[in-house]
Amino acid sequence: MVIYPELGARDKIKACILWNQPKGILKDLPNLRWISSLGAGVDHILEDPDLKPGIKVSRIVDNHLAMEMTKMAFLAVLSIEKEFPQHLNNQHHKLWRPNLDPIKRSIGVLGLGYLGKQVAIHLSDLGYQVSGFSKSVKKINGVECYHGNQQLPIFLKKSQILICLLPLTPATENFLNLNLFEQLPQDAYIINLGRGRHLVEEDLLKALDLGIIKGAYLDVFRKEPLSQTHPFWTRREIIITPHIASLTNVQSAAGIIVENYHRFLHNKKLKYEIDLDKSY
Ligand code: OXD
Repeated sequence: MVIYPELGARDKIKACILWNQPKGILKDLPNLRWISSLGAGVDHILEDPDLKPGIKVSRIVDNHLAMEMTKMAFLAVLSIEKEFPQHLNNQHHKLWRPNLDPIKRSIGVLGLGYLGKQVAIHLSDLGYQVSGFSKSVKKINGVECYHGNQQLPIFLKKSQILICLLPLTPATENFLNLNLFEQLPQDAYIINLGRGRHLVEEDLLKALDLGIIKGAYLDVFRKEPLSQTHPFWTRREIIITPHIASLTNVQSAAGIIVENYHRFLHNKKLKYEIDLDKSY
């Protein structure tokens, strides 16, 4: 095994494990046949201009990632419901201001892949009214599932809290835009746990200014780390976390990669292989 940048004889490399690789490194690997992402996302691999056709791509799918993502979704949903940021602020001013009539908002989960599905199921188990939206038909107990462009407006109308867990593909880039925000109920919240490029950042600021959106919990950004001068930092309606929603668990990921390595050596179908036509 070799570790970048000490790659030695590059023509000997047949498989590699990548996370946010510097562009250009795939160009010099003429015999590469398989790439495993080190996380759930594969956008950093699929967008690499040097990814050659025929190279298999796989990702990490495990219960650990799903549970961490679920906890992050819970944190944001409960923080909205219990008005946690306001209480923190009140504490600074020694103010005792209970809200005795909290709103239990309905939740829409955008993207029902492995992570989105688990998040939707657990929120539904906690007693929330949960809808889910995906490209193709899905059936999940306790979750009202919608699919396809025609059903998107119905789904949006029901989502007082919209959680984005879409994969990043050319079709989902900029999905969270002003037009979509306008289809949500009044005073809706956005929780983006997908990718920064799902969100048109200036549209979110516009929607907050116009009172179309009440607030946003953002864990991912178009450019990370978020620049010091970014307007999001100073908006009190936006809660920022630094891409920590669901971090890869080394032990679990190593197990998946080792198993896939054996499958690769024996020409067997890889686990969690990406359908390159769909990009997920
Ligand atoms: C991932 C991530 O894709 O951490 O795993 O964003």
